[in-house]
Amino acid sequence: MAETIPSNESRNESKIIAALAGRDQIQIDLATKTVRFEGCKAFSELVIFNKNNYSKDPHQWPLPKGTTHAELLVKEFLLKLQGNWNLPYKHDEICHCRLVSTQTVLDAIAVGAHTPEVVSRWTTASTACGTCRPDVEKLIQFRLSDPNDPR
Ligand code: FES
Repeated sequence: MAETIPSNESRNESKIIAALAGRDQIQIDLATKTVRFEGCKAFSELVIFNKNNYSKDPHQWPLPKGTTHAELLVKEFLLKLQGNWNLPYKHDEICHCRLVSTQTVLDAIAVGAHTPEVVSRWTTASTACGTCRPDVEKLIQFRLSDPNDPR
């Protein structure tokens, strides 16, 4: 699905994308102001709800407060759109013992791994020396937190 929206976006990136590989994806082409999305029923319904109830322009959407994968992915998209997607861990690989990428951990959190133990079980991160566990915890906290709540 695609829709052209009015916007005065002025960043250099040509697209902003939030995606769960092989599942849900939402993106905006900043040159054409075209929003595209695809994914499961829950994700599509959330995007359509926002378009119908707030605006076709995702700049006007509220940040979702819930922790379903659909809400977390839309929140990631909106934070990237606002320039506020400030990951507390910025390297590609988070677990050097198990060679687990940061994106793998972020995806696991998005689909329900909301504790370090579950992240470890699903991804193998933090299952050897444990040095990466504090960074995994920071990613969980970042991904699940409400950026509007300063606590
Ligand atoms: S760096 Fe992750 S377990 Fe060692």
